[in-house]
Amino acid sequence: MTSSLPTLELPPFLKKSLVEGHPWVYRDHVPKNFRAPSGTWVQARAGNWTGYALWDATSPLALRIFSQRQPPDERWVAARVASAWALREPIRQQQQTSAYRWIFGEGDHLPGLTVDLYGAYAVLATYSESLESIVPWVVAAMRDTAPLQGIVRRRRGERDEETGKIEALWGELPPRDLIVEEHGLRFRANLYEGQKTGLFLDHRENRYYLQHLTEGKRVLNLFSYSGAFSLYAARGGASQVTSVDIAPGAAADARANFALNGLDPDEHKFVVADVFDYLERLRIEKRRFDIVICDPPSFARNKEQLPQALKAYARVNAMGMRVTEPGGLYAAASCTTQVSPDAFRDVLADAARQAGRRFQIIHDVGHPLDHPIMAQHLEGRYLKFVLGRVESIW
Ligand SMILES: C[S@@+](CC[C@H](N)C(=O)[O-])C[C@H]1O[C@@H](n2cnc3c(N)ncnc32)[C@H](O)[C@@H]1O
Repeated sequence: MTSSLPTLELPPFLKKSLVEGHPWVYRDHVPKNFRAPSGTWVQARAGNWTGYALWDATSPLALRIFSQRQPPDERWVAARVASAWALREPIRQQQQTSAYRWIFGEGDHLPGLTVDLYGAYAVLATYSESLESIVPWVVAAMRDTAPLQGIVRRRRGERDEETGKIEALWGELPPRDLIVEEHGLRFRANLYEGQKTGLFLDHRENRYYLQHLTEGKRVLNLFSYSGAFSLYAARGGASQVTSVDIAPGAAADARANFALNGLDPDEHKFVVADVFDYLERLRIEKRRFDIVICDPPSFARNKEQLPQALKAYARVNAMGMRVTEPGGLYAAASCTTQVSPDAFRDVLADAARQAGRRFQIIHDVGHPLDHPIMAQHLEGRYLKFVLGRVESIW
């Protein structure tokens, strides 16, 4: 197909990965003299391969490839939005869930853009200024696809006095006390000020899996945020759940979520503390739990931080395993892209060694249905969740 778009010749060695569908081209690999405003559609060529991409004038990722067939237009984008919607049909039909990720960037063929759905409200986020070129198309497509009341976006700059971390794109702003459902549990989602876009939607299936193991158990939820894992544990019949997070407001949010589900927060513990300090205290006091969940924030933003991150993961998981009753269960999560699933299992083996335990893995998963990753783009894979039994050494 011929096009009137600016054309960029890329090094021929990129052809193989581009043919396979890898959606990124770094600045080192685009012609040095090419100039255009961010958000310009360009035609890229590598050997006899042609693709259509959005140009970013400043970030290290110079091109995000959208199509190998045509310069994307409103209809092309609408088809991707509809395809992403169709993939999530089982969540809507079978899971009593109204909050999930609708569009996961590269995994849904819309590189650099995510959309999370919270009931009738969608929260869009872009990871490059070039994406501004398609935001109006995405908004129009979402309105045509789902019965929405409002679409907001995460601000890329400073938070706003009135609307916090979001701004309106279309329709009404979400209520401050928006309630959504996840596997039939109710959560308050604070889209204005919450971490991520409001809730950590990616662990939905992991929480549900764990729920079925918690009956009669003493559960410790480390890095608990608004208590999502804790709520599932309590619904599963845990005798007591202790939730630990350092963020101001997290404990109050977790208590409110317990009450929202008819669970008495006073029967459980909500601790505001640094997890490392708290675990040390538990160790000194010789307190143990039957199930420990450890879902820390990302410890590495880039490759350079990886060695430190691996050490931090090993340390926190060793401390967590030490307070797990031998024979009890330990769930470790990592949301750091830099740490591969193999590297994470190695970290857990190291943690078990440090703790003087064995770790018997019984469940080891990655991404859920609403966070798809393309086989050609494993850079999109960030989530790991490993559950195992902590054993004494015999
Ligand atoms: C990945 S989120 C946890 C999400 C949670 N598991 C859920 O399902 O909603 C990480 C959490 O760790 C908390 N955090 C970060 N550093 C911490 C620390 N040193 N001690 C305690 N909490 C910490 C953050 O406030 C955040 O809520």
